Amino acid sequence: MIAAVLRCFETALIESRTKGKVEAAVFEPFLEFFLDYADSQHYEKEEACLFACMHRCGIHDADEGIARLIEEHKMARQRVHLMVSYLDEAVAGLDFAVEKFHESAGKFRDLIMGHIPLENGNVFRVGDEQIPDSELPALQAAYDARDAKPENAEVRERCLRVGRELVERWTPKADEARIPLVRT
Ligand SMILES: [Fe+2]
Repeated sequence: MIAAVLRCFETALIESRTKGKVEAAVFEPFLEFFLDYADSQHYEKEEACLFACMHRCGIHDADEGIARLIEEHKMARQRVHLMVSYLDEAVAGLDFAVEKFHESAGKFRDLIMGHIPLENGNVFRVGDEQIPDSELPALQAAYDARDAKPENAEVRERCLRVGRELVERWTPKADEARIPLVRT
């Protein structure tokens, strides 16, 4: 879901840069999704459940990757908070805020575009290969326990709906943007 929303975010960002303006109605749902879903569903689950499990199992092949992922989670939070802090003034049309908003948005996008392959190709792969089967029920139980907390269940449901709406709204534009302008 995060990768799909990120792709839509990229399309919205290109459009916003082209227009030279930042629209609240466009970016508020993205920021809600990145703030709440990424924070409570992704970062915390990875750090508190998966990485903790790998550590407990004495798996160290992905230590470097895990340290980088944790650092990137912090940087991603900072970049989303920067976007939030510039949003109102950017929406009001203040040039410096528009520029700063676009800059933070671009850096956030770049960060997550590098983050996803590092997770999939390194840390998740090592986890898949090395976490013993006997540990999997405990890992699943840890994920389930987090999802079951009332505050997490509310965030999850709300953000999945926001994410689905974003994908529905922006994916056709993202597909369109991939069509080469000049065909040979
Ligand atoms: Fe992550």
